[in-house]
Amino acid sequence: MEQYAIRGGNPLVGEVEIGGAKNAALAILAAAVMTDEPVIIENVPDLRDTMAMLQAMESIGVVVEKLDRHTVKIIGGSLKNVVIEDDSIKKIRGSYYFLGALLGKCRRAEVALPGGCNIGLRPIDQHIKGFRALGADVRIEHGLIITEAQQLKGSHIYLDVVSVGATINVLMAAAMAEGQTIIENAAKEPHVVDVANFLNSMGANIKGAGTDVIRVKGVSKLHGTEYAIIPDQIEAGTFMFAAAVTKGDVTVKNVIPKHLESISAKLMEIGCEVEESDDAVRVVAAKPLTHTHVKTLPYPGFPTDMQPQITVALGLSKGTSIVTESIFENRFKYVDELTRMGANIKVEGNTAIIDGVNKYTGASISAPDLRAGAALVTAALAAEGVSIIDDIKFIERGYEDFPQKLQSLGALIEKVGSEREIQKFRLKTG
Ligand code: UD1
Repeated sequence: MEQYAIRGGNPLVGEVEIGGAKNAALAILAAAVMTDEPVIIENVPDLRDTMAMLQAMESIGVVVEKLDRHTVKIIGGSLKNVVIEDDSIKKIRGSYYFLGALLGKCRRAEVALPGGCNIGLRPIDQHIKGFRALGADVRIEHGLIITEAQQLKGSHIYLDVVSVGATINVLMAAAMAEGQTIIENAAKEPHVVDVANFLNSMGANIKGAGTDVIRVKGVSKLHGTEYAIIPDQIEAGTFMFAAAVTKGDVTVKNVIPKHLESISAKLMEIGCEVEESDDAVRVVAAKPLTHTHVKTLPYPGFPTDMQPQITVALGLSKGTSIVTESIFENRFKYVDELTRMGANIKVEGNTAIIDGVNKYTGASISAPDLRAGAALVTAALAAEGVSIIDDIKFIERGYEDFPQKLQSLGALIEKVGSEREIQKFRLKTG
């Protein structure tokens, strides 16, 4: 089993290039099958989740050609069926985007129920509500969500909760429905805007993405395009907090600073300096960190996907901090692992009360999910001594070349596969 061995204590210093946004890529790859013409997508992160999407596309006859590590050509014209149920797709959340994409294009989709991180109940009732409002029938049979429509008709849809997935899914189906769709209480995340821009570049007519009301005029056909995915806000935020906890000085490059505002604001509140330029943000942690309170919210609020990373930093910040998780109810499972590293955190329901400690110490821990896993890596980088992190497959779902990027900033981290390799790492770094 592969693990990360980490010796903490080195401040992270230098520059790191941020890749394309995973969550935008999952939706955009699915949307690419909506035209028969070739689509070229750049800045696709090379991750387990994006590979699973591409494999699923090939399994239904779509031609996928990798032009280089981050550029892919997709030809949806060769699509042969609408049933997606291969094993790798069952593990990821973004698989549900094939529902909206195929319903829009083929008026039918059958997709295995989505997996993804175990961070609480993750219902898809709002996706289903949206498809039904467009005139589709939706049912679950033998582990597949089956949706079909004789006619897909534009509609006025109010989403009961702000959902990234439901907004994007309804957007995709509505792009090829007849007439106008209005989505109210839409999610405003940067990747919602990115998917809308992508669909518009294929000839869709979508206005208002990035606000809470999105208007879609359905078109009967979409055409080929070339498109580059936006940078990953969460990958960037993870490196920014890694700089904070290791008392480092890191510049994240190839980012859109506007997308990072809530993250930058919290870093400044806890005592870091944050400098923004056109496409980079520099975080300098020269002073001791101080406490703050934070509540996760839909964009432009503080992202739930950054909650474990800020908790790790607050665990090392002077004073008492409170973190409230308002999006997913089961997102503090990693706190037990952090406690093993010396953190002083009490979780009550959706709230973590954190009394800052002076230091973490290395321990053997497991990554419970993607973002918590990455946050535990940052804790280990700040800790005294060696940590061994298990279940890194979760982390690899969302961070490309994570150990290599951290090494380039001076971190002592290696992927290891045996006790012998761990011993070698201890000797080499000791
Ligand atoms: C996406 C992201 C995930 C991120 C989350 C919130 C992907 C693949 N995953 O997940 O990384 O943490 O957005 O930014 O892009 N809800 C319902 N009914 C629904 C849909 C959602 O009640 O039909 C609830 C969820 O339980 C949750 C909230 O709405 O409490 C937000 O979920 P949503 O934005 O849909 O998250 P995901 O699309 O699953």
